[in-house]
Amino acid sequence: MNKWGKLSLGMLLAVGLITGCGSNNNADTAATDSNNSTNSGAAGATTLILGTSADFPPYEFHKMIDGKDTIVGFDIDIAKEIAADMGATLEIKDLPFDSLLNELSSGRVDMVISGLSPTPERAEAVGLSDIYYKAEQAVVVREADKDKYATMESLVGAKIGVQTGSIQEEIAKDIEGAQLTSLGKISEIVLQLNSNRVDASIMEGPVAESFVKNVDGLVITDAKPPVEDDGYVIGVKKDNTELLDKVNATLDRLESEGKIDEFVAAASELAESE
Ligand code: ARG
Repeated sequence: MNKWGKLSLGMLLAVGLITGCGSNNNADTAATDSNNSTNSGAAGATTLILGTSADFPPYEFHKMIDGKDTIVGFDIDIAKEIAADMGATLEIKDLPFDSLLNELSSGRVDMVISGLSPTPERAEAVGLSDIYYKAEQAVVVREADKDKYATMESLVGAKIGVQTGSIQEEIAKDIEGAQLTSLGKISEIVLQLNSNRVDASIMEGPVAESFVKNVDGLVITDAKPPVEDDGYVIGVKKDNTELLDKVNATLDRLESEGKIDEFVAAASELAESE
């Protein structure tokens, strides 16, 4: 018997892996409020609006902090540093991952920090920062299938769950005969895996680790999904070089102070705590 018995949506909710079930936008206001309170700039101070898809522990996720639904994670820590360096107030918008770059182009958000992998198409559409962190991709399956899906070749013809608009969706499309289920949130993919509706999922290694630690019955296999560029970047509106320079300057500083690794370690711990 699993630690939590049969996994249900309610249980995922209880462990804090999903919040604002329904639409992403519901979580929006609450998250914005709770994240703003620490950084109330003087009247007239600029607001820096962050777009992120907070379904992605330890990068960005919802957590009850002092009884308040709060968006946390190492991407959020980085966003706070950028805002602080600019003397701006940070506002966080929790949005579906596949809408983020459009929100950027239309100016509804100023920057996107969301475990975003650089691709040629994205570099064409928006401005991308330097790489601030690197991680490998992972394949997550039910425990009993660990050996069955130990290589990428073994995924030929399998049912694969991926996040809509992600590079993982592209990786899965390249697997021969794979039947894709593209969903808006990673937690929804985890539910599909648990209920036998998909066989495997491809996701970032740190995200995979966070989910397998929190959800019984899932494991990471030895299969190594191929990626061209395994780093993460921050997006700004195309040609907003002024903001891009500030973003890169803060990333440089954080890098030289060893802060990013610190943020990752703290966020991973937070994602695993009850
Ligand atoms: N790294 C992948 C990509 O850029 C997935 C990112 C998903 N991010 C998220 N916050 N859900 O496509």
